[in-house]
Amino acid sequence: MSSQPQPAITWREDVLPSDVAGIERLTTDSGFFRPDEVAIAAELADERLAKGPASGYHFIFAQQGGDTLGYACYGPIACTLHSWDLFWIAVRNDLRGQGLGGQIMALVEQRVAFAGGERLYVETSSRPLYRPTRHFYQSRGYNMLAVLEDFYAPGDAKMIYAKTLPVMNRR
Ligand SMILES: CC(C)(COP(=O)(O)OP(=O)(O)OC[C@H]1O[C@@H](n2cnc3c(N)ncnc32)[C@H](O)[C@@H]1OP(=O)(O)O)[C@@H](O)C(=O)NCCC(=O)NCCS
Repeated sequence: MSSQPQPAITWREDVLPSDVAGIERLTTDSGFFRPDEVAIAAELADERLAKGPASGYHFIFAQQGGDTLGYACYGPIACTLHSWDLFWIAVRNDLRGQGLGGQIMALVEQRVAFAGGERLYVETSSRPLYRPTRHFYQSRGYNMLAVLEDFYAPGDAKMIYAKTLPVMNRR
């Protein structure tokens, strides 16, 4: 019995109208995000569709055929010269732990560095659910800079990490 070969993973940075529902699905199915967080993740794609790159929201999608396997949304932080934020990253549940998130992060870092970014910030929660996520960032060179106790909810701190990127295009 032979299994069908899977199409290769391709990368896409333009945002399609269908991505709004795709992001809703991916973030809902992850089991990590509340409905209000899912709505915000989708709104960032809406904003990008409406305003283009001027929205300040940039995307990377990992595609296989018509399926979105994972994505990230990132952008420059207003009123800073070289600081960028990773707003969202998610990989489909059944594909986690196989290297796709690392590939998405590497592409985001490359794009940010090319655009003149020198520091990439990521934020996550202190809840036990996010332990693997914190490990993911730390093992990719993100240093924990601050813990804002009780930020998201009582007992749920905001943990801020950053990575210094190679200087490529200083403005
Ligand atoms: C965090 C996330 C994007 C990482 O993507 P990924 O494809 O699982 O990451 P990789 O396979 O490249 O890397 C796996 C590493 O992350 C860790 N990891 C994080 N979440 C994991 C998960 N759910 N399953 C397996 N490994 C996970 C592993 O410990 C592994 O560490 P190692 O590189 O030291 O072995 C993905 O797990 C995810 O979508 N998580 C839920 C949503 C989320 O937390 N988003 C970030 C919000 S702040």
